[in-house]
Amino acid sequence: MTDDGKRTLRSAHSYGKLDRDGFIHRSWMKNQGLPGDVFDGRPVIGICNTWSELTPCNSHLREVAEHVKRGVWEAGGLPVEFPAMSLGETQMRPTAMLFRNLLAMEVEESIRGNPIDGVVLLGGCDKTTPGQIMGAASVDLPTMVISSGPMLNGKYRGKDIGSGTDVWKFSEAVRAGEMTLKDFMGAEAGMSRSPGTCMTMGTASTMACLIEAMGLSLPFNGTLPAMDARRRAMAHETGRRIVAMVKDDVKPSHILTRAAFENAIRVHAAIGGSTNAVIHLLALAGRLGVELSLEDFDALSADIPLLVDLQPSGQYLMEDFHYAGALPGLMTKIKDKLNLDAVTVGGMTIGDIVAEGEVYNDEVIRPRTNPVKPVSGIWVLRGNLAPDGAVMKPNAASPELLTHRGRAVVFDTIEDFKARIDDPALEVDETSMLVLRGCGPKGYPGMPEVGNMPLPPKLLAKGVKDMVRISDARMSGTAFGTVVLHVAPESTAGGPLALVRTGDEIELNGPGRSLSLLVDEAELARRRAELAAQPAAPIPARGYYRLHVEHVMQADKGCDLDFLVGASGDRVTRESH
Ligand code: FES
Ligand code: MG
Repeated sequence: MTDDGKRTLRSAHSYGKLDRDGFIHRSWMKNQGLPGDVFDGRPVIGICNTWSELTPCNSHLREVAEHVKRGVWEAGGLPVEFPAMSLGETQMRPTAMLFRNLLAMEVEESIRGNPIDGVVLLGGCDKTTPGQIMGAASVDLPTMVISSGPMLNGKYRGKDIGSGTDVWKFSEAVRAGEMTLKDFMGAEAGMSRSPGTCMTMGTASTMACLIEAMGLSLPFNGTLPAMDARRRAMAHETGRRIVAMVKDDVKPSHILTRAAFENAIRVHAAIGGSTNAVIHLLALAGRLGVELSLEDFDALSADIPLLVDLQPSGQYLMEDFHYAGALPGLMTKIKDKLNLDAVTVGGMTIGDIVAEGEVYNDEVIRPRTNPVKPVSGIWVLRGNLAPDGAVMKPNAASPELLTHRGRAVVFDTIEDFKARIDDPALEVDETSMLVLRGCGPKGYPGMPEVGNMPLPPKLLAKGVKDMVRISDARMSGTAFGTVVLHVAPESTAGGPLALVRTGDEIELNGPGRSLSLLVDEAELARRRAELAAQPAAPIPARGYYRLHVEHVMQADKGCDLDFLVGASGDRVTRESH
């Protein structure tokens, strides 16, 4: 505390010292043209930016950061922008997910190590949002989020086309001989015609919406198009607001409570959110010490139908959702299911936001009496094939396949799959179940989005549009189909998925929440012994890959690294010189 009763901010431990250490902290900052009086004890606000030309979804965030800075200056703070590793979902190999936890580590240590009092996180592409928030949560300084915002709706030949979703549709049409390669290529530029994230309800939009529902951003952050001037205005207001949050010492641990997670899961069901959100929310809860299990997703979303008619589960796109009333409008439709007293970074409760919400287009945001689909959310399956659980998204699946018994066609790796799936001699029909393994968090490594395996061309030519697919992989939030994902433990970690053989019968009972390999226990024990006699999969020799494979937890635990669970706070006791 200072003489006037104000709290001494952590930045004052660096900038407030009238000695050699203070000289060092201030003097080098002054080389950027900062006048001396900005080190007068005012809140120093970090702007953590995942801008990158290799993350096209975040390519406009340098400009957005300038608007945050205006607000910070105006409110009497000192803004300082810093970069964090950017994870471009469409560019990075083997999968951006491999690096989510690396980003989280970088963000955590950048916040803790620097003399800042609060932080605004700028991200949007799938893994940048959870990576940044996980890192920030483990420090627990006042934090707000500005998301990239979705791209403008895709346009091609007079029709709206959706990021990802139409890539999967068009590529299957090419493989079925229904679309020419020339037309396919022609759609590329029309699909992505502005900065911003995928404009379907993929993982980026899902996470941005859930962050808004959890109260970590101002209202409408989840849906405002990237190029809408109001997103810049929101960035400006966020800059003002984070300064007030530092003064009031409002931290992520005050906002991201169990009540906020419950709200997120309910909103997730109503918007038809991505399966990837399950992994990210579990990991985030682990950082905060909030009790959250895989089963919570199933239980909390059970009575919430799909209300937002967006691709991949419906037809419209993010611009339409925003103009229809966005999340505040949607939340009016499920307000009896929300924890209305949950607080938000804006100072208002979720209840205050819902009270202002309105729906302007009830085709896009439906009433509960006329849902897009009666069943939504996440189903959590268990059984001898997934002892630690697997997930599926019933609203993106074919109703007739939700209960299905069929013979497995097994692929050991994605390369094996790609090498054989187009082979006309492959023994497969529409009742078969495609099983892919070796694609989990350790096995790939990084758990890529390959779970929505393309169908065999000979079945596509017959008009087959969906088959049951089972794997330890993830799938893009923009994808669809009767796809069982995140099977845990993964095959590489000794999960029973490793025991399946082509021709085995598998039973999927979605409504009964079970996934069973119909092979007797004696035979499974024999196969287990055979597998155990084989050499274990080699682990990477060095570097981050090695750290990841040695420490990553399974999907049912959120795929965080085991030593990153929890928080260490913001204290650093030692000086640098
Ligand atoms: Fe970045 Fe979809 S690829 S949001
Ligand atoms: Mg993705």
